[in-house]
Amino acid sequence: MTRPYAEALRKPLVRTVRFVRRLRNFLTLTKLKLKGCSVDWSATVHPSAVFERSGGAISIGANTDVDRGAIIRAMGGAIHIGSDCNVNAYSFLSGGGGLYIADHVMIASHVSIYASNHVFADTTVTMNKQGLSMERIDIERDVWVGTGVRILDGVVVATGSVLAAGAVITKSTNPHSINGGVPARQIGTRLADGSAGQVAAVAVATEAGVSGD
Ligand SMILES: CC(C)(COP(=O)(O)OP(=O)(O)OC[C@H]1O[C@@H](n2cnc3c(N)ncnc32)[C@H](O)[C@@H]1OP(=O)(O)O)[C@@H](O)C(=O)NCCC(=O)NCCS
Repeated sequence: MTRPYAEALRKPLVRTVRFVRRLRNFLTLTKLKLKGCSVDWSATVHPSAVFERSGGAISIGANTDVDRGAIIRAMGGAIHIGSDCNVNAYSFLSGGGGLYIADHVMIASHVSIYASNHVFADTTVTMNKQGLSMERIDIERDVWVGTGVRILDGVVVATGSVLAAGAVITKSTNPHSINGGVPARQIGTRLADGSAGQVAAVAVATEAGVSGD
């Protein structure tokens, strides 16, 4: 059975839904800017995402998407997320020693990134009274962080790296490497023979794609 009225309503309804989404995003970004976060107007942030500066700084680049339930907590450090990145649902990014995420980085759901550690050297004092050590984390451009990955402080995730689902990253990775396991080890490479020429070619292609950091 044809329903001409339904067809006639479809376009205005789609337009209204799009408008409401854009308005909702505008209000979310405005709220974040009023809280002192630097967020590009082309970013999309789900209203349920939580941004806490706690004396630190948070900046989000162009066309970056932060999905529902993501928590971005600067903890007095600086968190920078570059352009054209995704932070998927329920991921937790903690600043502390500083967290720098370059452009074109995909972060899947339920990822934890902690640029801090509890100090536990002294057995005569409870650990919750020993303070924190904080080291910066760098995630270079064009990285894919799989679901459930944990990244610990002091590491550099090199350009082009893949972090397999569930990996615990305790050490820096090699460019274009595939890393998995607990603790993570290199389990593969994206390069056919790992030659320096191929590394350079991939890097050039990435640079040419979109403007730099
Ligand atoms: C890392 C990954 C990309 C590899 O995919 P693939 O190239 O198809 O790899 P394969 O399934 O052929 O496995 C290759 C090897 O890596 C191992 N491996 C694959 N995934 C792994 C993981 N998550 N942890 C540890 N080892 C893993 C396999 O056991 C296999 O080892 P073997 O050669 O000793 O048997 C994939 O397994 C993965 O983890 N993807 C992330 C998925 C995800 O998070 N999706 C969310 C999207 S936003």
